[in-house]
Amino acid sequence: MAIQRPKGTQDLLPGTIEQWQYLEETIRSVCRDFGYEEIRTPIFEATELFQRGVGQTTDIVKKEMYTFLDKGDRSMTLRPEGTASVCRAYVENKLYGQPLPVKLYYIGPMFRYERPQSGRFRQFHQFGVEVLGADQPLVDAEVISLVWNLYQRLGLAGLEVHLNSVGCPTCRATHREQLQKFLTPKKAELCDDCQERFERNPLRILDCKNPNCQAVTEGAPTTLDTLCPDCGAHFEKVLSLLREAGVAYRTNPRLVRGLDYYTKTAFEVMVEEIGAQSAICGGGRYDGLVQEIEGPATPGIGFAMGLERVLAALQVQGKFSERRSKPFAMLIALGDKAQNEGFSLVSALRARGIPVSMDLLGRSLKAQLKMANREGAEFALILGEEELERGVLLLRDLTSGDQIEVPVNEAVEVVCMKQQRGV
Ligand code: HAM
Repeated sequence: MAIQRPKGTQDLLPGTIEQWQYLEETIRSVCRDFGYEEIRTPIFEATELFQRGVGQTTDIVKKEMYTFLDKGDRSMTLRPEGTASVCRAYVENKLYGQPLPVKLYYIGPMFRYERPQSGRFRQFHQFGVEVLGADQPLVDAEVISLVWNLYQRLGLAGLEVHLNSVGCPTCRATHREQLQKFLTPKKAELCDDCQERFERNPLRILDCKNPNCQAVTEGAPTTLDTLCPDCGAHFEKVLSLLREAGVAYRTNPRLVRGLDYYTKTAFEVMVEEIGAQSAICGGGRYDGLVQEIEGPATPGIGFAMGLERVLAALQVQGKFSERRSKPFAMLIALGDKAQNEGFSLVSALRARGIPVSMDLLGRSLKAQLKMANREGAEFALILGEEELERGVLLLRDLTSGDQIEVPVNEAVEVVCMKQQRGV
């Protein structure tokens, strides 16, 4: 059998790639408007970065990483997410020496060995934002309103922003204690994974999809119940700023993110229409992460959105018109000599920035005209042996069918003028 692409990966082909380009361009323009600069980090990193950054007890680190030994026996991992890498780059390149906060964004592939299904891939793409060096609630609100602004520009509807605060290490310790106390009498009813989580990371039990565990945790204390005064005030301020910005949110005390680095604000954006994998964006504050990877104490906040899921939502909501690029003109050459002259014309038009294409397979006039129509060209420049002898070509308007003769040495100017006039 012929070799196939790895499970959970995709070939992004012409026809769809235009949608990706449109999405990426819109993202870049929003980031420019909000004053965020692009960062590109390596696709693979030392495995230890994710073990320490994302957390040893997370599904990502325990089950989902593409880890390999390189030829120098170093353990490397294809990045499963971007935050740890950005923090590493911030420390390694001493970006903290710049005026703070440092506002960065990235777009690129991430890798997780997950069970592929609709909306869930092993290689997927994230657009992410990270702000380092600012602990004010205003930053949380700015980051979330950037997400909101992007969705508005894309015309996405039916979005739900879910917000929670998971608190700081102090209020988390109180919550952990209260949650374990609540769950102890019902511990035996929890699924195997949650039994294990009970000691290592009980907060994740609140997020378990198993209906039994969901019933058991009904009425369990949430992190919002145990926030310390500082975290409580921070959360209230974020909510009031989001109201000012017109962001439609709802607080969801059961929102628990799957990565260990979060503190205070945590959020996700959902769109129901795209199926079970409805989270198109997730993020939050991570005030301890930079220190965790041995950088200077630096607060941070960010998010990442899955571009495959954003595109799926745009498709379901019919937000894409035909975006495939079309040639303005198609040069149709018949015969060897005409091909030479035609190639020279095409080169001259391209040098002037006119999108023009030419048959590369020596097809018949009929086949070439068919191709011009299929590609959506507005004009055909027809150059046969007979026209060539007379020093002219036929300029045919493919919409009206009107046709005129144009001297070959004036053809470039005539086509340029037509394009400028938007004909
Ligand atoms: P995450 O929630 O693991 O967070 O991923 C963010 C988004 O990436 C998800 O909401 C989803 O849209 C998309 N995504 C995740 N896994 C897959 C997959 N297997 N297939 C398709 N899409 C997927 C993070 O990655 C954090 N680094 C976000 C962050 C940045 N927090 C602070 N800064």
